Amino acid sequence: MTTATTILRQHLIDPEICIRCNTCEETCPVDAISHDSRNYVVDAAKCKLCYNCISPCPTGAIDSWRNMPADQAYPLAEQLLWDNLPAQIALDHGTEVGAGDTATELPDEVERIAAASTAGQGGTAPPPWSAAHPYVNLYGIHAPAVATVSGNFCLTAEDASSDIRHIVLDFGSASFPVLEGQTIGILPPGLDAAGRPHHVRLYSVASPRDGERPKYNNLSLTVKRVTEDHEGKAARGVGSNYLCDLKKGDKVNVVGPYGTSFLMPNHAGSNLLMICTGTGSAPMRAMTERRRRKFAGGESLGKQMLFFGARSPGELPYFGPLTKLPKEFIDINFGFSRVPGEPKRYVQDLLRERGVDVARLLRDENTYVFLCGLKGMEKGVEEAFTELCRANGLDWSALRPQMLQQGRYHVETY
Ligand code: A2P
Repeated sequence: MTTATTILRQHLIDPEICIRCNTCEETCPVDAISHDSRNYVVDAAKCKLCYNCISPCPTGAIDSWRNMPADQAYPLAEQLLWDNLPAQIALDHGTEVGAGDTATELPDEVERIAAASTAGQGGTAPPPWSAAHPYVNLYGIHAPAVATVSGNFCLTAEDASSDIRHIVLDFGSASFPVLEGQTIGILPPGLDAAGRPHHVRLYSVASPRDGERPKYNNLSLTVKRVTEDHEGKAARGVGSNYLCDLKKGDKVNVVGPYGTSFLMPNHAGSNLLMICTGTGSAPMRAMTERRRRKFAGGESLGKQMLFFGARSPGELPYFGPLTKLPKEFIDINFGFSRVPGEPKRYVQDLLRERGVDVARLLRDENTYVFLCGLKGMEKGVEEAFTELCRANGLDWSALRPQMLQQGRYHVETY
């Protein structure tokens, strides 16, 4: 029998990125961070993994981690000599993550859900080159962040067949930095039928990085109450019903954030081509809201086209606010599938109709495509891209892999 080795999630600082601003050393409540004339370093024996230093760091150099056998943690003397971080060493099987640590790897179930939702883009794609550095996995299931519900608003019409909600979570003084396009995990309270704690439910953040309300430490989610399964049989979604029933002041256990790929470009002149159905609009709202605030501040931006599919206007989250956005800010195309007396229209139909303008955007290497919503739409959207490209002198089969490799094509479907 082999004895399991305890693995330490060692917190390090990347000397290649660090600008030696001293913010982390000032922030650390246990004096685990020190420096000499060359490097800033973290003492593994003192660091309590409180993450207080993570969000104030301007470069993200502080967000560096290596899994190490506890008795082989990099000593300060060695860190002080580094010009760059050492590679992650291979660990034997039979290792255990130290008690109280969150593993560097995402929780298995988060990995599984994330892999399924991004399968359509052919696996992990790089983020846009100008994306901001995301923080991930700051809170794990053993030590979740506790947020307080500060609002729960119904987004769908009274007579709508679905109940979609805009839920605002306030993190108070806890550090929970997120970027548009990232997801967070919710831990529903209670136990499942087998007597185990419920697994993590992932939701895309619907607000921009500076908060649902600017300068507040809050974020929002767009959640649809699940009342049936994929086959249409009655089924009560544990996570969505828990969230949709929350009242102002309720406490929620939150893990994450997650997501290093589906992130918005930040460079001047970047264009967004966004395609979504239903609650897949959450990351699109986050991105457009980020850019709307810049636009309101007089910043000149690239183009934005939005293709949004829903059953009817009453079932389209954020329908009212979207219709009020200036035309020169965003080009919005709605497709409704269940309006009595009108033909069914899907996002792929809208893409074909706007083929010339979509192709013009695709031709621009500053264009980033984001697709989020029902898995079923992927096939139709791919076919629409193929057709509209062919009709406008482009080859989607060549363009798609190129965009993927350049972090310009992102898919998240469920
Ligand atoms: P449908 O009315 O045919 O279900 P939901 O409200 O279920 O979240 O769906 C959002 C929108 O996505 C609805 O208009 C729905 O149409 C549409 N939709 C369903 N399947 C597809 C698909 N394969 N491609 C594109 N849109 C779809």
